[in-house]
Amino acid sequence: ANGQSYLPDENNARVKVKPQVAIAAYPFALNEVNLLPSVFTDARDADIKYLLVIEPDRLLSQFRTHSGLKPKAEKYGGWESDGLAGHTLGHYLSACAIEYAVSGNPEFLKRVNYIVDELEACQVARKTGYVGAIPREDSVFMEVSQGQIRSRGFDLNGSWSPWYTIHKVMAGLLDAYLYCNNDKALAIEQRMADWTETTLKNLNDEQIQKMLLCEYGGMNEVLVNTYAFTKNKKYLDLSYKFHDKVVLDSLAKRVDILPGRHSNTQIPKVIGTVRRYELTGAKSDFVIGDFFWKTVVNHHSYAPGGNSNYEYLSEADKLNDKLTDNTMETCNTYNMLKLTRHLFALQPSAELMEYYERGLYNHILASQNHKTGMMCYFVPLRMGTRKEFSDEFNTFTCCVGSGIENHVKYGESIFFRGKDGSVYVNLFIPSVLNWKEKDFRLTLNSKIPQEKTIRLTIQTSQAQTRTIRIRKPQWAPKEIVVRVNGKAVAASVAQDGYIALTQKWKNNDEIAVDFESSLHAVAMPDNKDRKAFFYGPILLAGNLGTSEPDPATGIPVLVSDEADANKLFVAESKDALVFKTNKIGAPSDVTLQPFYSVADEFYTVYWDVFSPLAWKDEQQRYEEKKKAAYELEKSTVDELRVGEMQPERDHNFTGENLETGESHTRKFRVANDGGSFSFTMKVASGFSYNLIATYWGMDNRGRNFDILVDGEKIASVDLNKFKESKFYDIAYKVPTHLVTGKTSVKVTFQAKAKNQAGPLFGVRLVK
Ligand code: AHR
Ligand code: ZN
Repeated sequence: ANGQSYLPDENNARVKVKPQVAIAAYPFALNEVNLLPSVFTDARDADIKYLLVIEPDRLLSQFRTHSGLKPKAEKYGGWESDGLAGHTLGHYLSACAIEYAVSGNPEFLKRVNYIVDELEACQVARKTGYVGAIPREDSVFMEVSQGQIRSRGFDLNGSWSPWYTIHKVMAGLLDAYLYCNNDKALAIEQRMADWTETTLKNLNDEQIQKMLLCEYGGMNEVLVNTYAFTKNKKYLDLSYKFHDKVVLDSLAKRVDILPGRHSNTQIPKVIGTVRRYELTGAKSDFVIGDFFWKTVVNHHSYAPGGNSNYEYLSEADKLNDKLTDNTMETCNTYNMLKLTRHLFALQPSAELMEYYERGLYNHILASQNHKTGMMCYFVPLRMGTRKEFSDEFNTFTCCVGSGIENHVKYGESIFFRGKDGSVYVNLFIPSVLNWKEKDFRLTLNSKIPQEKTIRLTIQTSQAQTRTIRIRKPQWAPKEIVVRVNGKAVAASVAQDGYIALTQKWKNNDEIAVDFESSLHAVAMPDNKDRKAFFYGPILLAGNLGTSEPDPATGIPVLVSDEADANKLFVAESKDALVFKTNKIGAPSDVTLQPFYSVADEFYTVYWDVFSPLAWKDEQQRYEEKKKAAYELEKSTVDELRVGEMQPERDHNFTGENLETGESHTRKFRVANDGGSFSFTMKVASGFSYNLIATYWGMDNRGRNFDILVDGEKIASVDLNKFKESKFYDIAYKVPTHLVTGKTSVKVTFQAKAKNQAGPLFGVRLVK
């Protein structure tokens, strides 16, 4: 069990390449940490149940058909029947391998070995080294290998981020090798890496960079890990082919080029560079990770630790107006936590684990329904929203894939071991560390935040000198109280944010540390009066019941001059962490509970806080604004967020002479030189519709175009009329007969000869 980790580790026989940099802390092997009952074991149990319901043959179905073999079961629905087919199999391999490493449950080993055998059969049948289930994969990669590359954000030669899916399958195979000792899995993965090499071998730099305009997941990371396992340097060299220069070289210069970029496309690239730094010592690969982490965590993350709105990052510290039903994609935090672990191994600090705790308790744990095991794609933060969970067999979004891994690995970062033999206690999740090699067991009992005391009990057959480092959380008071066997000891917080206790420990010694929880607010970076409230590490959400709240008056605000969060709420049940607004809720008081335990109820995570005086003045305006925003949202039958991956794919966006760009912090599409673009919009009969298009005003001729709905012209547009530097929302009436009896229509923006259609910054269809 020793050294089950990708991180370089002197105990790990599987990782053959020695780190070229100092590693300060190593994770423990997954089976060295056992969780004790808590909400985390509830989540894990629900996930295990789901993993056992999933049928490997259904995930393998298209791997077989694409290899010319007969499928053994029907494919699954959702994204498994779409362009990302196969990604879930990769995650499933990883999740089962991890769960086997944690628990030793032979059922998971059986599943891993079965899938690996099946993938081998597919690989043998194909003869190229490749194995996959992506639609049209063979022709797509044939073209790519010949240098015919058409790429847009998520589209490589008409295929949806194919390298993303290939990465998932390769990563699953490496997990099967690492956690389940399945040598065949490494051999299959290596042949996929060789196929990758062959596919790219004739491409020049320019062609490669063009290909990398399309999301490529963590291809660089998986290739670095292939190098680590095989010691074959060609895989390290190959990893540099997946180096998006525009993004990564900017980050290496500490330039924040993230605004407007798709979040989950960038994080895996950065994990790959940090992993490579560990094995090569190339400093700029570290700078990329360090700068990226600080930028995302400190400037792009919401209170629960997640990031992105509609999957995208926006301007730094501008989050106030980005509370929608599509905030916080869960994959992003899955990946940010991975990155955090790598950075911690290099330079352990409480700051890193503070973020890890925030994201783990308040995004990852909150993304699962602990009863059903079903998961969220987005964890929404619109005030008055509700979580939407996956279903068992017909969702399989990217976040279901990463999600099935999330909930089986809660033990992976609670403890780390320092290079100096110390033990880091990073998280206060009840658990037992069993460090067999050193004859050292540490039982962590904690009911934080319900109770303030964390108890660490040592078991060892021989007294031993060791340093135990306990993270001092930011949310706990400055003064620290530490007792060893009931006696107070002098202790202080070191530079790294940890309390270090060094002594000769004997059997049954007990360390008790008090970290008292209290209520504290975290305000929006761009609005000090919009706040989220935490009790200790736990984010609280206002429970708004199971029927949708009134959009104008049903979203509670807090009316108070009080600055101390502890006076804004009263505890109803400390044990269940239930609080109530203390006669300051408008229109009425509201109950709060941990965000992670909200499942079916509507809720709010952020609250607008007014002084009584200001509320008197502003109530009416505030409610009208809320209502108008809600009504626009509700009367919108369909909206296309132009230039963004998932929305464009959902709307079958196509066109010719297209250009994509970004200005005034919004993305746009424009068709040049008589070109056009089209997309579909959902409709229902019985309504009259307006199409609202958003343009930027400027003095510029040559922007004459027609708008057609299902081939019929509904407007002729001359954009030169709009000259002011601002966004214009222009409504075009859609005649009723064009929508009658239909569920969707095709909208076309057709430029006049030698003219442009657009730039179009957004479009919605409203009733
Ligand atoms: O395109 C693959 C994944 O699907 C992306 O990383 C995620 O954001 C998207 O929705
Ligand atoms: Zn996702």
